[in-house]
Order: sequence, then structure tokens, then C-alpha cells
Amino acid sequence: MSSKVSKADDNLRKMLSEKRLKSVEDRRVGSEVFDKITLETLYKLAKMGYINVLNGAISTGKEANVFKGIDDDGNFVAVKIYRVTTSDFKKMQQYIQGDPRFNVKSSNKRQLINAWVTKELRNLTRAYEAGVNVPKPLVAKNNVLVMEFIGDAEGNPALPMRLSKVSNPKKVSEKIIEYVKILYNDAKIVHGDLSGFNILIKDDEPYIIDISQGMIVDHPISHELLNRDIDNLIRDFKKLGINITKEELKSKIMDLKS
Ligand SMILES: Nc1ncnc2c1ncn2[C@@H]1O[C@H](COP(=O)(O)OP(=O)(O)OP(=O)(O)O)[C@@H](O)[C@H]1O
Ligand SMILES: [Mg+2]
Repeated sequence: MSSKVSKADDNLRKMLSEKRLKSVEDRRVGSEVFDKITLETLYKLAKMGYINVLNGAISTGKEANVFKGIDDDGNFVAVKIYRVTTSDFKKMQQYIQGDPRFNVKSSNKRQLINAWVTKELRNLTRAYEAGVNVPKPLVAKNNVLVMEFIGDAEGNPALPMRLSKVSNPKKVSEKIIEYVKILYNDAKIVHGDLSGFNILIKDDEPYIIDISQGMIVDHPISHELLNRDIDNLIRDFKKLGINITKEELKSKIMDLKS
């Protein structure tokens, strides 16, 4: 084991021995994901009651890992942890600098990730408050975002639409269109990475996730992002047997009267 890895594991043990965070499964993943600051962040969130137990990873993606946790009240939560080493800083910089809500000039990676996570929390909050089905945002700190866990009562996570069996495609596609319409017209956000991978399906109910790159509609780039989202949706709807033209979908989302 490299010294870096054993140091991370030492930190983890230390945190566990401080007794707040009851247990952490999958400690070897910890070695890669949980650097010192991440551990301290998890520890603080544990102290605040957001995470009591951190279970195994639901997903280990390119930039972030999502874990299932349990809060102090015994509810499941989803804990999204961005890895500082492998994040796409060029992309983050581009999207953060283009967003008037953020004034991050720095190329400091950690600051950029913190702004990115804050952006995901704020976008989720705007969407949630407007009535879009998204995981309820709970807290963001440093590179960690805690949100509502989308899954069943036993703790099995809902699957992305692209991987799930949709029993009523018409109903599901109509709900998705309605949510994207609310997102655009009320929350005034364009998702920017919308596809069947970033829509979870639970009992034929779609939940939109992964909204960190979302842009406010006034921004010049938002139109291009919206067009890309629409193309992706059309492709994924087609896979479910639902056919809709670009013009039709666009006018529904933008609520254009024909
Ligand atoms: N709130 C949640 N409840 C249950 N599962 C979730 C939740 N959020 C994310 N997941 C699971 O984690 C996966 C990855 O989440 P998300 O799309 O937010 O990360 P990502 O940015 O795509 O990661 P990467 O880009 O690194 O691949 C999702 O496809 C889903 O399976
Ligand atoms: Mg995703």
C-alpha cells in the first residue's frame, strides 16, 4: 500500500474512532476518494447530523462517486463526493465563469470544485422549489453534496432511465417534458447534460439529477445547451418507442403558443 493510501486509511480510522460517523463500508474506495479534506468534510457533516453511516458506492463515475448514507433519523441519503484529482477543471471553469451567480476567478482546483458543488446545490434548490422532481437538496460542503436518496424503502437505488424498464413510456415521457418545461420557465435553468442517464426512474416516476452544469436561461450558452438536451431526449424517447419532433418538443418545453 502506498503511503498516501495508508494515510487516508489512518484518517478514516481516526474519524471512525471519533465515533460520530458510525461506519464506512468499502474502505478501500476510501483510499482513493477520501483524501484528508474530504474526510474532514464528512466528519463535519456527520457532526451536523446529515450522515451517520456511509455505505457502499451507488456509482463510481468519472468525476464523482455517489454513496448511500443514513442520516441521524435513519433515512437513506445520497452522498455525492467529487474527486479533486480527476475532475474536469476546464469544463468547470468554463461553466462557472459563464455563470453570473459565481465570481470565481481562481484556478485553484479546490475552490473551483467547491463552487461547482455549490452550483449543483443551488440549481437543485431552484428546481425543487419550482416543483420539478429532483432529489431534495440537503447540504453542500466543500466537495460533498448530500441529497435525498431516490430508491425504495429497502435502500435499493432507482436506476437511470437508460438502464430501467419503463412500463408506461408515454406517461413517463410526458412527465419528463413537463419537468423540463417547469425547469425552463419557472426555475429558469437549462440542464445542459440531460439524457436517459441523468433521469432516474422510480415506480415510473422520473427524477432529474446531475444538474451541476445547469445554466440560467439568460446566458448566451443556454440556447445551445437546450438544443443538445432536446436532441438527447428525442433519442432516448425513441428508444422507448415515443416519437416526437424537435420543433414539437422545443415548443412544449419553451411553452410557445403555436
Ligand atoms: N439522489 C440519488 N439517489 C439515488 N441514486 C443517485 C442519486 N444521485 C445519483 N445517483 C446515482 O449515481 C449516479 C451518478 O450520479 P450523477 O449523475 O449525479 O453523477 P455524475 O456527475 O454523472 O458522475 P460522473 O460524471 O462522474 O459519471 C446516477 O446515475 C445514479 O445511479
Ligand atoms: Mg450523471
